[in-house]
Amino acid sequence: MLKNDQLDQWDRETFFHPSTHLAQHARGESQNRIVTGGKGVYIEDRDGKRLLDAFAGLYCVNVGYGRTEIADAIAEQAKELAYYHAYVGHGTEASITLAKMILDRTPESMSKVYFGLGGSDANETNVKLIWYYNNILGRPEKKKIISRWRGYHGSGLMTGSLTGLELFHKKFDLPLAQVLHTEAPYYYRRPDPGMSEEAFTAHLVAELEALIEREGADTIAAFIGEPVLGTGGIVPPPAGYWQEIQKVLKKHDILLVADEVVTGFGRLGSMTGSKHYDIEPDLITIAKGLTSAYAPLSGSVVGKKMWDVLERGTDENGPIGHGWTYSAHPIGAAAGIANLKLVDSLGLVENAGETGAYFVQAMKDALGDHAHVGEVRGEGMLCAVEFTEDKESRRAFDPSQKIGPQMAAALLSEGVIGRAMPQGDILGFAPPLCLSREEADKVVEATAKAVKTVFKD
Ligand SMILES: Cc1ncc(COP(=O)(O)O)c(C=O)c1O
Repeated sequence: MLKNDQLDQWDRETFFHPSTHLAQHARGESQNRIVTGGKGVYIEDRDGKRLLDAFAGLYCVNVGYGRTEIADAIAEQAKELAYYHAYVGHGTEASITLAKMILDRTPESMSKVYFGLGGSDANETNVKLIWYYNNILGRPEKKKIISRWRGYHGSGLMTGSLTGLELFHKKFDLPLAQVLHTEAPYYYRRPDPGMSEEAFTAHLVAELEALIEREGADTIAAFIGEPVLGTGGIVPPPAGYWQEIQKVLKKHDILLVADEVVTGFGRLGSMTGSKHYDIEPDLITIAKGLTSAYAPLSGSVVGKKMWDVLERGTDENGPIGHGWTYSAHPIGAAAGIANLKLVDSLGLVENAGETGAYFVQAMKDALGDHAHVGEVRGEGMLCAVEFTEDKESRRAFDPSQKIGPQMAAALLSEGVIGRAMPQGDILGFAPPLCLSREEADKVVEATAKAVKTVFKD
């Protein structure tokens, strides 16, 4: 194909990029990379530059790039039946088969899958189902949703409100009133450095109890959380967190939504984060790893307890008034089936656990003692390096120094893509689950070089 020399100009003139500094981009001051291909853990841009993508796109290309098995499944589905809707009892072989495959991979207490397109719309669905559920149960006041600061649940009106990151609220008139935030389970940022993980968990539980007490349990419908905080900094929970939180929620009859958009289908080295941490959710949000992003598809997996009430609701009120044109799109479903088969046949859940542990340990060995590395942490195929101005006091760098973005840029110069997480000086990694030990070594080596460059060691 002839190289289109106007593409760069068209991009700046016509394309509204998400999560981008719009003015800088339009002025040509910021990076624009036009990605043209990918194979395994590598992507290639139109300048022929090959980069090791240690963030799997947006932690979604779990099986890696260039899997023809999924591409072929998509093509076959498109030729056979590109689309049919799922309203009023319609389905396709692909969407029904995928629902069954998902239920085989999620906790036994789950009952049905509602398909959407992305994580944000799946969480919007979840909130609607939660409100509907409490209306059917005759509890119209029980509607507020508790999320955690630093949680990420999407960027719609409701889901952007659930997201506990400043950037997603500022100037958007968010969060909406029905959303409450509680403290992040972020051990590195514990209020007292002498606190054990267990003591920090007890502190978080006390904070949650106090919030519920203040608001009244009869006004709170649900609690939403990612098994491991993702976009908020890649932070595994402190010891005992999910067990203790669940006790509080049960006591107050508050539903639990496990947002497994990142953790679902293997990223932690377990099929789900719920399994990994013994979480018993009422709803599970899935997206990303469901299709490894070969096609857009998400799901709200509904537990039996809620499902029974939803059925009752339609007996009393008629069909559920919720649906998207593209719910259960057969092309997404075909991609999902082929993807989940690959995850199994390539042993990617196991590899995420084993190579992930190797990767996190190698990163700790390489950088843990550095004067400006506050913490290296991770779980499965998730890893973060958090930078600090002063290791002893855990004092953050002045944000104007942009240490995180500088790190990501220096890493890119070494041929590796990591992500400067949006809040704090944190370099995040979420490689494809097929990462090998050699590739893990490359990422660690490049990170160590980037750290040297930025801190001029
Ligand atoms: C945990 C979690 N939930 C929801 C979302 C939103 O998904 P989407 O960007 O597909 O709307 C994301 C996206 O990163 C996520 O990480």
